[in-house]
Amino acid sequence: MKLLVNGKEHDVSVPDGMPLLWVLRDVLGMTGTKYGCGMALCGACTVLVDGQPVRSCVRPASAVAGRAIQTIEGLSPNGDHPVQRAWAEVDVVQCGFCQSGQILSACALLKAKPKPTDADIDAALSGNICRCGTYQRVREAVHRAAALGGA
Ligand code: FES
Ligand code: FES
Repeated sequence: MKLLVNGKEHDVSVPDGMPLLWVLRDVLGMTGTKYGCGMALCGACTVLVDGQPVRSCVRPASAVAGRAIQTIEGLSPNGDHPVQRAWAEVDVVQCGFCQSGQILSACALLKAKPKPTDADIDAALSGNICRCGTYQRVREAVHRAAALGGA
């Protein structure tokens, strides 16, 4: 099947039903997307498909063939995307495991709502669990990203 990841087409041959997460990590070597629960419960594996957050641990790669998949690796070549800059300024990250999912959910939110309220942020990111409890800084960073130019 052909997967369009971060604007580049990849021809992959994988078993039927293989989750997108495993294709990204094990076949394409993109390990920025993390495995947490494997049950669509934690958000660590979040990627964007046609701009919408998707839990890649439960989505078969075949279901997103030919669609625009974005991972954390594709956000910017040098880490200077407004959301990444905001994350660095606010110093959001603790262990980091949940953060690529948090950032991609934030990007989708900012695309839909360039100036989100606290309630918008809480609603959009409620599926991204952070065991380190960085929620306050995530919220602050989303506001900062909006000020820096958003998604
Ligand atoms: S690893 Fe996919 S939602 Fe937790
Ligand atoms: S920063 Fe550690 S789980 Fe979120």
